[in-house]
Amino acid sequence: MLPEILPRPEPITNADYHSRRRALMASLPEDSAVLLPGAGLIPRSRDSDFAFRQDSDFHYLTGFSEPDALLVLLPGRDEGESVLFCQDRDPDMEAWTGIRLGAEGAVREHGVDQAFENHERDQRLLDLLDGRCHLYLPLANAEALALADDCRARLAGRARRGAPSPGVFADLAPLLHAQRQIKSEAERVLLRHAAEISARAHVRAMRAARPGLAEYHLQAELEHEFQWQGGSGPAYASIVGGGANACVLHYIENRDVLRDGDLVLIDAGAEFDLYAGDITRTFPVNGRFSEPQRALYEVVLAVQERAVAAIRPGATLVEIHEGVVRGLTEGLIGLGLLEGEAQARIDDEGYRRFYLHSTSHWLGLDVHDVGSYRYDGQPRRLEPGMVLTVEPGLYIPRDEDIPEAFRGIGIRIEDDVVVTPEGHEVLTASVPKRVVDIEALMAGQ
Ligand code: GLY
Ligand code: MN
Ligand code: MN
Repeated sequence: MLPEILPRPEPITNADYHSRRRALMASLPEDSAVLLPGAGLIPRSRDSDFAFRQDSDFHYLTGFSEPDALLVLLPGRDEGESVLFCQDRDPDMEAWTGIRLGAEGAVREHGVDQAFENHERDQRLLDLLDGRCHLYLPLANAEALALADDCRARLAGRARRGAPSPGVFADLAPLLHAQRQIKSEAERVLLRHAAEISARAHVRAMRAARPGLAEYHLQAELEHEFQWQGGSGPAYASIVGGGANACVLHYIENRDVLRDGDLVLIDAGAEFDLYAGDITRTFPVNGRFSEPQRALYEVVLAVQERAVAAIRPGATLVEIHEGVVRGLTEGLIGLGLLEGEAQARIDDEGYRRFYLHSTSHWLGLDVHDVGSYRYDGQPRRLEPGMVLTVEPGLYIPRDEDIPEAFRGIGIRIEDDVVVTPEGHEVLTASVPKRVVDIEALMAGQ
């Protein structure tokens, strides 16, 4: 029997993309313009390219999924405020790479006010930007900067004839990223779906695990589920680390054999409609935790559950991380892996031998999503609509001075959480994380 197929959630509508563009323009001066290039194709080797992935900012404002596009926003322009440049229609190329929407199709399908094909770009762009003094563009994007510089230079000629030209370049990123940081209900629906696909994939990998398989076999289980449910694939390179490979934070080789008696750490998430899931679970390859594994696991789990429980409007990631550090440090002392008082090991950062990453990051169109971590010189306070991960871990080196039973154990537990007015919603709760629940699932119960 074929596995269940989840119903697809509603996509983001053109009305949503329109109101995002409007909301962005509402914060800009009248004489400004926004220039935002989309992504291009990236060569993989010789004449093959990586699968196309639209730039997240560009996607957020347009939903347009072809390469080599450019969005220009012109607040207050009578003929239309949103102008899209897109690939030229080209029947010969389209026979190879598929239909291009072209200018007419872009307006019809995406609801931008006007669209032109790229062969018209140089001339049209100059006319559109004439008289716009402030240009907002992503300053970290070399292509955007080169394009803006070129327009400024060419418009300088006209300015000498009396028209103002774009004199000030300002960074679009902070404005747009503040907007992206708060997820609408429609975005939360997609994030919930990406999380649910990711959760099913983890359950599937747990069920399949057994000694003698390779790490890539579990990767195949995960990624099969991502694709099966209509995701575009992994939102980031899947991590499947058996034994001490779990201690390498970004281990993506996934080539080792899974050994009886080891744990395996899986950090993997699906991308669905460009939104990311990001889950980590750690479980025994043979389905049963050993005593030392269980002891360490329970420390991480208790800390992770407390951190999730602390998520509510007004809390900060710094507080949550500090609670995690304290809990892990106390746990390490309890197991004899650190000595002395917890406060002393926090102050001298002794805990960092076992836990050196932060506890949370924002999650959205990017797995490490945009949005500031500080505001007005202070840690950013959580607000409803923010989405974040909670992912404490412990990574025990294989050093001589570590009790042998703990050497080479790596554990991380990661969930995706939405901040709600009342507190929070965990998107990834359907993957077991309690010891009894993992063991029951792996025993086929
Ligand atoms: N998977 C990347 C992370 O957890 O941050
Ligand atoms: Mn993460
Ligand atoms: Mn992760």
